Amino acid sequence: MSVLGLGRMGSALATALVGEGYDVTVWNRTPKTLPGARSVATPEEAFETDVVVTCLSTYEVQQPLLSKNIKTLVNLTSGTPEQARATAEWARQHGVEYVDGVIMAVPQQIGTEQARILYSGQSTHHVLDAFGEPVHLGEDARLAALYDLALLGIMWSVFGGYLQAQALVQTAGVTPQQFTPLATDWLATVGTFLPEMGEQTAHRNYETEVSALDINVEGLRLLTRANEEQGLDVTVPQALHGLFQRAQSNGHGAHSIASVIEEIRK
Ligand SMILES: NC(=O)c1ccc[n+]([C@@H]2O[C@H](COP(=O)([O-])OP(=O)(O)OC[C@H]3O[C@@H](n4cnc5c(N)ncnc54)[C@H](OP(=O)(O)O)[C@@H]3O)[C@@H](O)[C@H]2O)c1
Repeated sequence: MSVLGLGRMGSALATALVGEGYDVTVWNRTPKTLPGARSVATPEEAFETDVVVTCLSTYEVQQPLLSKNIKTLVNLTSGTPEQARATAEWARQHGVEYVDGVIMAVPQQIGTEQARILYSGQSTHHVLDAFGEPVHLGEDARLAALYDLALLGIMWSVFGGYLQAQALVQTAGVTPQQFTPLATDWLATVGTFLPEMGEQTAHRNYETEVSALDINVEGLRLLTRANEEQGLDVTVPQALHGLFQRAQSNGHGAHSIASVIEEIRK
């Protein structure tokens, strides 16, 4: 078993494999050692093992390192769905068994059940069990990268909104300790709206008895103005206001917020 890439995540993966009792070989561009593992000077030496786990910064960095001498490749480098598809195709053409996965966790969670490893494609490998909870998404190799970026997109939007909120409440001297409990409760409530919203995006039926887009466009106008009044950056609320406003102009004012997806699909 080999791990290519001993960055923050690669080191955690290799450490988990050592902990599970695997015979582990590691390679890193900048020579590094890892307790319990054998370091090699070239990727080619790592390819002699039965399984090669890759965890490098990008596919661009990873691609030139790959070789048809790899027997089974467990690719845990983050990339786009198209990059995953192309790598799966490369593996198929070169007779390399291929598992495409993404890690929905931080290095400190690797080896615990909090680390969800999403994977897709036609192959699986029990090595994923050493890293956390593997979840197979389907045979299409693009799926893991697709879910990864979709879920991270939600996370980054939430973080952007949270940081904007912190900046805003702090202008009135509110502390993070005072505000954050309400924010986390509110996020839990917001999460309960997602199943209905998801259904509406699938059926493209945006009737609502809850909250019309019109009132949300007005709310975003107020949010942008409140941030401006405090001299804060308004990139995030302004972008959302612009997007929601376009959906409103295109006839969705009385519809639910889910109708905004019609603008995004353009
Ligand atoms: N950290 C996280 O919380 C996290 C969570 C989920 C997924 N991931 C994914 O895991 C992957 C690795 O992330 P990380 O946090 O471990 O990053 P990192 O700490 O920055 O490590 C990057 C790794 O890539 C190697 N590398 C960079 N450029 C290279 C090149 N030109 N040739 C060969 N090796 C090169 C680095 O080698 P050197 O040591 O020589 O620079 C290092 O081993 C990424 O795809 C990331 O999206 C990370």
